[in-house]
Amino acid sequence: MEIENMNEEIIQYETMLNEWKNNLLMYKFALDEINTKLKIISEDYQFIHNHNPIEHMKSRIKTPKSIAKKLRRKGLDLTIENVIEHIHDIAGVRITCSFISDIYRLVDVISNQDDITVLKIKDYIKNPKPNGYKSLHLLVTVPVFLTTKTVNVKVEIQIRTIAMDFWASLEHKIYYKFEKDVPKHLLDQLKEAADVANRLDIKMERLKDEMEIYKALE
Ligand code: GTP
Ligand code: MG
Repeated sequence: MEIENMNEEIIQYETMLNEWKNNLLMYKFALDEINTKLKIISEDYQFIHNHNPIEHMKSRIKTPKSIAKKLRRKGLDLTIENVIEHIHDIAGVRITCSFISDIYRLVDVISNQDDITVLKIKDYIKNPKPNGYKSLHLLVTVPVFLTTKTVNVKVEIQIRTIAMDFWASLEHKIYYKFEKDVPKHLLDQLKEAADVANRLDIKMERLKDEMEIYKALE
């Protein structure tokens, strides 16, 4: 009897793991779709305007371990339903652009695609976080066409300039180094660095605009 119970438990556990694998695969498909879209936008834009709005892009799938951690942090049970409903960044893409204007152009182009639904836009460029963090976050769904059904899958797209990205990666390292308890003088310097990065972004945009005037006169 004992052994039968154990077997049943193992079967249940296996079924759950398989369900997880299946569902996480969906997010990989969604990233494949988004990456293809972004590659096409980038090449088409380059062809028309002779300028590439995307400097660099990187995508990742959240690991089951950090999905579980995030659910626990939110006080939710470890179920597939909760994962799908409450974790919005399982599939994530980070895009870096040269100029702030490229960011908003990309947001427009992505939002205007017929099969993409924008669920949320968080504009931390217009409204930076108190620590100085800047970026534009888009939460979208993209349809994934499977053998027997079509599923709309969530993808989080973070768009930032090279300067914003430089700042965010150092801030992230410092935050984790001090286990979230960063000394005040470092926080102050980070805030200062964010202001410097912002001034650089504004300066670069102006230089580009001026260069474009010269180009138009050619
Ligand atoms: P999460 O629960 O972390 O996803 O936060 P949220 O649901 O409030 O979403 P938000 O859009 O604010 O942030 C999502 C992601 O943006 C994070 O996972 C980070 O990748 C990035 N991010 C947000 N704030 C900061 C920050 O202060 N510093 C850095 N380096 N990255 C940040
Ligand atoms: Mg996140």
